[in-house]
Amino acid sequence: METAQSTLPKEEMLLAKFEEKTAAGEAIEPRDWMPEAYRKHLIRQMSQHAHSEVIGMQPEGNWVTRAPSLRARQILLAKIQDEGGHGLYLYSAAETLGITRDEMIQQLHSGKAKYSNIFNYPSLTWADIGAIGWLVDGAAIVNQVSLQRTSYAPYSRAMVRICKEESFHQRQGYEIMATMMKGTAEQREMAQDAMNRWWWPSLMMFGPHDTDSPHSADAFRWKIKRHTNDELRQKFIDKTVQQAELIGLTVPDKDLRWNEAKQGYDYGKIDWEEFNRVINGHGPCNKQRLSHHIRVHNEGAWVREAAEAYKQKQKNN
Ligand SMILES: [Fe+2]
Ligand SMILES: [Fe+2]
Repeated sequence: METAQSTLPKEEMLLAKFEEKTAAGEAIEPRDWMPEAYRKHLIRQMSQHAHSEVIGMQPEGNWVTRAPSLRARQILLAKIQDEGGHGLYLYSAAETLGITRDEMIQQLHSGKAKYSNIFNYPSLTWADIGAIGWLVDGAAIVNQVSLQRTSYAPYSRAMVRICKEESFHQRQGYEIMATMMKGTAEQREMAQDAMNRWWWPSLMMFGPHDTDSPHSADAFRWKIKRHTNDELRQKFIDKTVQQAELIGLTVPDKDLRWNEAKQGYDYGKIDWEEFNRVINGHGPCNKQRLSHHIRVHNEGAWVREAAEAYKQKQKNN
């Protein structure tokens, strides 16, 4: 057995090597040595990401049977299936860090693991499906494009695949909004109302200002993160404001102004109190989202058992 003295330098050596590798922008693979804090950070971030993909299917699923045309229904169904697939890639990628999918689901059900706050808002009209695709997936893309170069290789590979599908999601949402804006006065009003309700929660998706986040410093040093929350938020605002103007939608922010010097928009204050209220379980749909997931997960137990029994049988043959 090694003594404490002899293990310590070895750990330090491994850590130094790891820091050197991440600083040089090299990728970390599952079998590479990594500090416990890096592993934990990624498990938290990747499982939260996976849960968000899956919980995000609920507000959209609400509209599958009420889509205004067969074409719209097919597109929405394909999009929701993609999100389920994104969840699966991400759960698998997170499992390479030594946590099981079961454990991640348990953490979601117990409230220990979070998912994106945005999915605690209801989808009230068909225009909300447009706003979700355009704004929510639009915000997700900005974040995910940046994560394609994250240091943990399985996460970065999952992001490359996911991003290809996300741009389709963003376009289908924008198409819904553009179509409604060419419609009747009521349809335009509906689109504007959806914009008003989804704009601010979409900006919150990037998370608090980095100076307010306790995990930020490590995430940057280890290249898990390559851009600040505020940088990504700015990028999203700059591209989205122009898209809104193009189809005649008004961004619900009276402080929004083009800033020539920074070549970007200045924007109003984000209501972080609302953000914290929703994250702490008091959004309009928190209870509904979680109880739906728990119920469906329990109802699907027989599928998992059957799959497990089949796997065992194959092994024994
Ligand atoms: Fe997705
Ligand atoms: Fe998506």
